Amino acid sequence: MIVLVVGGAGYIGSHAARTLRQRGHDVMIYDNLSTGHEFLASGFELVRGDIADLVKLSAALRRVDSVMHFAAHAYVGESVENPRKYFRNNVESGLALLNACLDCGVRRVIFSSTCAVYGIPVKIPISEKNPRQPVNPYGVTKLFFENALEAYDRAYGLRFASLRYFNAAGADESGEIGEVHDPETHLIPSALLAATGARRELELFGTDYPTPDGTCIRDYIHVNDLADAHVLALEHLARGADSMAVNLGAGRGYSVKEVLTKIEEVSGLKVPVRLAGRRAGDPPALVADPSLAEKLLRWKAMRTLDDIVATAWKWMQRQSTRALSP
Ligand SMILES: NC(=O)c1ccc[n+]([C@@H]2O[C@H](COP(=O)([O-])OP(=O)(O)OC[C@H]3O[C@@H](n4cnc5c(N)ncnc54)[C@H](O)[C@@H]3O)[C@@H](O)[C@H]2O)c1
Repeated sequence: MIVLVVGGAGYIGSHAARTLRQRGHDVMIYDNLSTGHEFLASGFELVRGDIADLVKLSAALRRVDSVMHFAAHAYVGESVENPRKYFRNNVESGLALLNACLDCGVRRVIFSSTCAVYGIPVKIPISEKNPRQPVNPYGVTKLFFENALEAYDRAYGLRFASLRYFNAAGADESGEIGEVHDPETHLIPSALLAATGARRELELFGTDYPTPDGTCIRDYIHVNDLADAHVLALEHLARGADSMAVNLGAGRGYSVKEVLTKIEEVSGLKVPVRLAGRRAGDPPALVADPSLAEKLLRWKAMRTLDDIVATAWKWMQRQSTRALSP
């Protein structure tokens, strides 16, 4: 297949682009580099453009048969403070992309959705049957796009996979690409930055949750396991399968304290921690029931928390060498 990876100069998209190529597909990347990085797309044809730029986007879409759509703003807190920015990019520009796909004859779209569409889950582990009731504007924008995909499937035969990621983490085993967010808010890179002294401390939000050690439990999924699922979903659709919405998680949760212990074990460094209060809207536990993805895609998360932390650590060390080299 010939795939346009929209947002492919970002963290998850760049890993998916490599996996697509390894599986023999042709890849083109489309990205406005707002939060992405040219070096993450190196080795690929990169069209630098915004998804709201119809002329540029349509020219790229006419050259492909499928789209993977990673482009979005993705900070929950910022979406509460500045929802306009989120509705503009994730909904308005997202719809422009979807319409351009139809107009240019693209009939397969793989979409980066999120467990945030579930809001506060009624049952753990979270299956796809959990009601979708997002509790922040970011989750609302993702749910809107999922709904648009469902309507476009029914009306226009656009086949899609909405992939609801849990906590993406880790880096490519090569050490060549990995997570680069600014600001970095995700637990594992934030803790590694604190361990190396690049950040003063790690803020630990809440130690009085109803969990065994009082800290929040999350489901960490290696970015290359996510990338594998994207390619499998696309190939599944190409074989004529129905559209789908599935969870992508490991199906196992780790508390913040457990992750910090693993980070100290792998890096050999101490993570300086400052205890802070709970963050509004943080559920005590978010763990996926990934059985639907396993059934439909014959996919399972293969990499462990050890693999996640080890690759993230390798990537961070590589990054600091890159920053120091002339
Ligand atoms: N990282 C996670 O744990 C996680 C979890 C659930 C869902 N997601 C979703 O996965 C996707 C990718 O996340 P990520 O962590 O790789 O983020 P990222 O910021 O690294 O990647 C997003 C990419 O999209 C590009 N982009 C954004 N708006 C654009 C626009 N209007 N036109 C063109 N390009 C644009 C950015 O420049 C960036 O390269 C996002 O849609 C996010 O909501 C991420």
